[in-house]
Amino acid sequence: MPRILVTGATGFVGRSLLPQLRTANYDIRALSRRPAAEIIPYIEWLSRDLTEVNDFAEALTDVDTVVHLAACVHQFDLNGESGLADYRRDNTEVTRRLAEQAARKGVRRFIYLSTIKVNGEKTAVLTNGGFQSFTESDTPAPEDPYAISKYEAEEALREVCSISDMEYVILRPPLIYGPWVKANFLQLVAAINRGIPLPLGSVHNLRSLLYVENLSEVIQLCIEKPQAANQLFLVSDVDISLRDLVKRIGDILGKWMPLLPCPVSVLNIVGLLTGKQAVIRRLTESLVIDNSRIKRELSWTPRFTLDDGLLNTLNWFRVFHSIHQ
Ligand SMILES: NC(=O)c1ccc[n+]([C@@H]2O[C@H](COP(=O)([O-])OP(=O)(O)OC[C@H]3O[C@@H](n4cnc5c(N)ncnc54)[C@H](OP(=O)(O)O)[C@@H]3O)[C@@H](O)[C@H]2O)c1
Repeated sequence: MPRILVTGATGFVGRSLLPQLRTANYDIRALSRRPAAEIIPYIEWLSRDLTEVNDFAEALTDVDTVVHLAACVHQFDLNGESGLADYRRDNTEVTRRLAEQAARKGVRRFIYLSTIKVNGEKTAVLTNGGFQSFTESDTPAPEDPYAISKYEAEEALREVCSISDMEYVILRPPLIYGPWVKANFLQLVAAINRGIPLPLGSVHNLRSLLYVENLSEVIQLCIEKPQAANQLFLVSDVDISLRDLVKRIGDILGKWMPLLPCPVSVLNIVGLLTGKQAVIRRLTESLVIDNSRIKRELSWTPRFTLDDGLLNTLNWFRVFHSIHQ
């Protein structure tokens, strides 16, 4: 089977993708800074810091497809100039260098996991109450340094592919959830598990989400399908309001979740005072993706429903929580 280089293999997405590709019998070379926490048989591991590597020959030898997941996600100052420089070094420049050398080494296809934040932070509400879903043809409108660095990485990859035979596939997912999820989704689940009443009773929004195992299957389609060559796809598998999501999680955890009514304007002020504006925006605003193109072009039907995904995630959470409390 062709050899696939997966960067960011120890991350949240990598942990789901590796078994998926292994089951499909791909020959995998996995790369991350830390060595793998658990040994996955038959996978070759390289432990490298991509920001410090100038010569990727060892990683790229005999590779058919690169799946570039490694990125710096929400670790630097999100608003300052220094934050943008750091994100550009880790996300844009690493992608450019890796893509340039991959093209020279004859890699067939380079799959880049970008983010829907390249389209923007929220979708507009229409006069009829519906949403102007994000599509592939929207003009990019990245706002924070992370999103800017990911958009610039997309552009760098496109540039490399325009002057070589290497094909690109760019995927822009929204929030991804599943076992090993981190950050806001994990904090939300933890709060619900503790039965903390959340002040979300007045929030009426809609958010697109993506279950990590559905994403892994999409990435495999992007490796295999000729139609994926040189395409940008927005990818999500469900749209749900925050209130419904909280209720579904509470039901599965067996917790009754009172949602306290609190005007969104008050939540925004709290966000301003606590420096958590971005978190409040993600909780209250809508971000809806039109996923019809990837479904049509790659004949993709998400295998896991929201309930499947939440059940798997919360089963993992119960074990994770019992170990870490
Ligand atoms: N999670 C989401 O909701 C989401 C949504 C949209 C897009 N994405 C995109 O999806 C991709 C994967 O995200 P994730 O959630 O799996 O991220 P993650 O859990 O933070 O994992 C990041 C991975 O990248 C590796 N990495 C980071 N910097 C590196 C460097 N300098 N050199 C080598 N390896 C490095 C990490 O390796 P170490 O083990 O060494 O730390 C880790 O394996 C990212 O490109 C992200 O932008 C994620």
